[in-house]
Amino acid sequence: MNIRRTAVISVWAALVTTASWAAEPIPTVNLVGRPVPQLDSLPEGPYRALVLQGHELSTRTFAVIGPEVKDLRKRYAGNNLACTSCHQAEASKPFAIPWVGVTATFPQYRGREDQISTVEERINGCMERSMNGKPLPLDAPEMKAFTTYIAFLSRGVPVGAQIEGAAVLPSVVPNRRADPDAGSIVYAAKCAACHGADGMGQRTGQRGDAQGYTFPPLWGPDSFNNGAGMNRLLTITRFIRQNMPLGASHTAAVLNDDEAYDVAAFALSKPRPVKANLEADFPARWNKPIDAAFPPYMLGASADQYRYGPFPPLAEKQREMADRRKAEMAAIRARSSAEPASAAKDK
Ligand code: HEC
Ligand code: HEC
Repeated sequence: MNIRRTAVISVWAALVTTASWAAEPIPTVNLVGRPVPQLDSLPEGPYRALVLQGHELSTRTFAVIGPEVKDLRKRYAGNNLACTSCHQAEASKPFAIPWVGVTATFPQYRGREDQISTVEERINGCMERSMNGKPLPLDAPEMKAFTTYIAFLSRGVPVGAQIEGAAVLPSVVPNRRADPDAGSIVYAAKCAACHGADGMGQRTGQRGDAQGYTFPPLWGPDSFNNGAGMNRLLTITRFIRQNMPLGASHTAAVLNDDEAYDVAAFALSKPRPVKANLEADFPARWNKPIDAAFPPYMLGASADQYRYGPFPPLAEKQREMADRRKAEMAAIRARSSAEPASAAKDK
């Protein structure tokens, strides 16, 4: 069961007052071993053309909407990554944040915005953060191509399904502060050969030619910014634990829990682009993730603990805060049903 989806469900559980529809069975789809829809299977025509355009945008983002493309109006992304630098295997790999099923799970509640977000808004979340760029206009042909490719990948997943294999696998995180120095040793041994000793990755061609990277950068000016999901230590630890070095998977992990945690902390200890106005994220505050390392710092914890842990004590404090909130909401509901006359008068 994946943590984020569980969190979404518990938010609902907290908000829903009538349980009438909660009893409906939620279909579950397991992505592990499930065949991925094949581009080749699509007959010629405008639908196939748009899916292929979305595929190209996702795998060669740098060449289509990157900061080095010739047409200045198309420079939406601020770095030379591809969406598939993180959403591996053309966004189909379980526990590497696959897009399979995304069309069936959006619109969904998102704590970062404290509102219901559409797929388009979620894409723009990655545009502004993972890609350190600008949002795509909702009516841009590129937006249509992205959502069509995502919908194609989501074929056969019933609307509202619970998806096993989504996001990253919530592996165990050691109950201690992460150690970037220990991580630098792991990095030199197991990552630097591809991502570079300086973390800047390896270009496919030359700077300025919009050909992106053979091995993407992990920090520095051409990486994701500090508002990205990948900049949260628990998320990147779990991504790396199951998916790196290249070739690893959740059934064939290479690093252990300590190595993944420390090497992730090493990468996040390095400089990267800064996103303005991060204080506005997670406006409800009570559901701000415990590894979102920017102010305001909730739960009486320090900036350092939000960045490097230890996380289990923070998780415990957050649970207590959520329980208190649930109790307060229940009390308010009980009061308002006990005093229907005064509730009506207030309107
Ligand atoms: C630097 C890594 C990175 C890059 C590059 C990136 N993303 Fe993401 N993306 C993430 C992470 C991390 C998440 C969220 C995981 C979580 O919520 O725990 C995510 C989530 C998503 C989701 C929602 C997935 C779900 O299961 O709900 C979509 C859709 C998405 N990204 C689209 C894109 C698109 C389109 C691009 C390229 C324009 C892109 N991403 C580039 C890291 C990245
Ligand atoms: C054999 C080459 C190789 C090695 C070794 C390797 N990576 Fe990667 N890494 C890649 C490639 C290629 C991608 C892009 C995703 C893909 O193509 O599947 C990637 C993507 C990533 C990403 C997400 C994209 C980004 O730019 O932020 C992170 C984080 C990452 N690697 C971390 C690591 C860490 C940490 C290690 C060492 C434990 C490591 N990698 C070892 C090749 C490698």
